[in-house]
Amino acid sequence: MEDTYIGAIDQGTTGTRFMVFDHAGQVVTNAYEKHEQIYPEPGWVEHDPIEIWENTQSVVLAALEQGGIDPTQLEAIGITNQRETTLVWDADTGKPVHNALVWQDRRTTDRVEDLEAAGKVEWIREKTGLEADAYFSATKTEWILDNAEPLKLSTSRTRDLRERARDGELLMGTIDAWLIYNLTGNHITDVTNASRTMLYDIRELSWDAELLEEFDVPEAMLPEVRPSSDADFYGHTDPDGFLGAEVPIAGALGDQQAALFGQTCFDTGDAKNTYGTGSFYLMNTGSEAVSSDHGLLTTIGFQMSGEPVQYALEGSIFVTGAAIEWLEDVDLINNAAQTAELARSVDSTDGVYMVPAFTGLGAPHWDGRARGTIVGMTRGTRKAHIVRATLEAIAYQTRDIAEAMEADSGVTTTSLRVDGGAVKNDFLCQLQSDIIQTDIVRPEVDETTALGSAYAAGLAVGYWDTIDELRDNWQIDREFEPGLSAADADRMYSRWDDAVERSLNWATE
Ligand code: G3P
Repeated sequence: MEDTYIGAIDQGTTGTRFMVFDHAGQVVTNAYEKHEQIYPEPGWVEHDPIEIWENTQSVVLAALEQGGIDPTQLEAIGITNQRETTLVWDADTGKPVHNALVWQDRRTTDRVEDLEAAGKVEWIREKTGLEADAYFSATKTEWILDNAEPLKLSTSRTRDLRERARDGELLMGTIDAWLIYNLTGNHITDVTNASRTMLYDIRELSWDAELLEEFDVPEAMLPEVRPSSDADFYGHTDPDGFLGAEVPIAGALGDQQAALFGQTCFDTGDAKNTYGTGSFYLMNTGSEAVSSDHGLLTTIGFQMSGEPVQYALEGSIFVTGAAIEWLEDVDLINNAAQTAELARSVDSTDGVYMVPAFTGLGAPHWDGRARGTIVGMTRGTRKAHIVRATLEAIAYQTRDIAEAMEADSGVTTTSLRVDGGAVKNDFLCQLQSDIIQTDIVRPEVDETTALGSAYAAGLAVGYWDTIDELRDNWQIDREFEPGLSAADADRMYSRWDDAVERSLNWATE
């Protein structure tokens, strides 16, 4: 009998990857393609959903060809995706009515400030576990319905988008739903992605009628919400479609929840931090939705078929890896690997702090008007100091979250599992361990996001029988222990808050 595998589509902020995993959770083949970042105005970020769907098909086919794997050898496919990024499409033609508004997009900041002024922040937090912010899908959906081109019926007649949405002619979804729809024809999302829309009640586990009314989003346009690993499957790929085989689409998780699952953080208190465009630090809080008093989000971690929802506390840091990309964009470095070498070339930043608040600040500050800043420069400041300050900023932002997490959960962080592109950088891992004063644990398979969604799909079809099998697959690559005294770490961290203070409430538009 031929070997069988599980595929995972990882649709991220900068590109799309397809990975194929074997039973040991090892990568058999993979392919990746970037997509265009569209910035129509400062603070606005869009993606073309058609490009994303085309890239998805091409990376799936490329990876299979490269690995010499026939699509019929895939027992199931899982999906993981950039969360909150929102689009609306025509239920008839499947064509988007506007580009997707990306999670980083700040165009609805005014609307969020209106909600704050109207005293609705606590009301939103109680239902959704989220901090009212332009980051989430609710205000993005509202914006698209208010601003996308109405349907032209003839030269003089158009059909209003809101009317069309009410009549079920338009469908709304995050990227998982968009891919599931294109792969299977069904309009479905998973519960972790639903929990990021600011329209979903995370305790009642349903779309919230009052929030739908607030944002004027008709329920008819929303996807059906299903578990993250679904034994009933979301649907199958079309044997006459691009793949040429009928493969179950059986699992989906937002990418940060997928990383939590891929890192086998199955127990209460287990935590991971993923270093991608931003960093997202999640702690499993079990079947209890723990509310935060320190600027963290309460969110859904995952849900297995027929089992209760597992919750998580989340610290969302908007810019970490993207700050390294920025260093490259402004020619301070030629590639990400160079940051370690440059940072090591100086003993300290000589008092320079960099706050990469390029798209506002997320947890724990939640300031949509914060902007990037560098403070403390002197005539002697060199490129190396700025590069080192950027890496330190990644570590300080993570310490902000670790402290909030401890205060909210009462669990002391002694060890943190890390993953994502930037953890290849040993210097950053060591710095992270020094600043938070905790062990940093890097697993062998660092593509835990894709792995998590493969696990969800594989469990649904019985490729893996229990989560214990998955625990056995998780292996440590390297562990970093603090090499700096607590007093030195505290001294470095002590001026971080002052630097953050200077970046707050900067943007006027
Ligand atoms: O919430 C946003 C997050 O899901 C984006 O992750 O890895 O695509 O930057 P990433």
